[in-house]
Amino acid sequence: MNEQPPANTPRHLAIIMDGNGRWAESRGLPRTDGHRAGMEAVRAIVRASRELGVKWLTLYAFSSENWNRPKSEVDYLMRLPEEFFEKELPEAIEKNVRILAIGKRDRLPLGVRSSLENAIARTAHCTGMRLVFALSYGARGELVEAARRLLRDAELGRVTPEALTEKSFAQYLDEPEMPDVDLLIRTGGEYRVSNFLLWQIAYAEIYTSDAMWPEFGREQLERALAEYRRRERRFGLTSAQVRSGRDEIAS
Ligand code: FPP
Repeated sequence: MNEQPPANTPRHLAIIMDGNGRWAESRGLPRTDGHRAGMEAVRAIVRASRELGVKWLTLYAFSSENWNRPKSEVDYLMRLPEEFFEKELPEAIEKNVRILAIGKRDRLPLGVRSSLENAIARTAHCTGMRLVFALSYGARGELVEAARRLLRDAELGRVTPEALTEKSFAQYLDEPEMPDVDLLIRTGGEYRVSNFLLWQIAYAEIYTSDAMWPEFGREQLERALAEYRRRERRFGLTSAQVRSGRDEIAS
C-alpha cells in the first residue's frame, strides 16, 4: 500500500493479546485451539498495522509468568513461533519488516530460539516496520537485566552515577532503539498491564477491548486507532499548554 498513513497514527503500538483460552473454552474447544486462532489473529494484525502506518509493533506472545502454565500448554505455545516464522518470513522480507525480540531468549527451547534468531538475522537489513516479539518476557526482568548491564559498565568505568540519565539508562534495555509506546492495546476485557514494557509505557495511551484476541481483527484495530486519534496527549502539561504548543507549530 502506497498511501500515506493518516496523521497521528501511533508510532509504537504494543498489544497484550489476551483471551485465547476463553475464546476456545466458550466454544467447547481445547485452549490450544485458542492459541492457534490467536496466531492467525497475529498474522492479520501484523499486516493491518503495517498497512495503517505503524512503525513499531510489539506483541506480548509469552510472558515470563506463562512458564508456570500446564506443561502441555507451554509445549504447544512453544511450537507456534517456529510455525509462524516458517510461513511468514518470506512476506516479512518482501514487505521490508524487521523482526526483533525482547525477553529471556536463553530460556526458550533450542528450536524456537534458532527460528527466532534466523528471522532476526534474515530481516536485519529491513527498514520498514519493526515487529517485536516479547517472548519469555517480563518487564521487571528486563529492568533487572538492564541494571546488571549498567553495573558491568560501571565496573569497567564506562559510566558514572552522575552521568546516568533516563535516555542513557534506556540504552541498557533489551531493545535500545525501541521508542516509547504510544498506544497500548489489551484485548480480552481485562484492565491490567501484566508486567509488560513497564519502562516504555510511561506515557502510553491505554485502550482495552472486550474482544478475545482471536476476534481482534483489522476492524477492531482501526477502531482503536480512531479512538487514539481523538485523545489529547498531555505528557504532564495542561490542556491549554498543549493547544498553544500545537498552534505555535502550525503558525
Ligand atoms: C493470552 O491468552 C495469550 C497467550 C498467553 C499467548 C499469546 C500467543 C499467541 C496470540 C500466539 C502466538 C503467536 C506467535 C506468532 C508467537 P490466555 O491464554 O491467557 O487467554 P485467557 O485469559 O482467556 O485464558
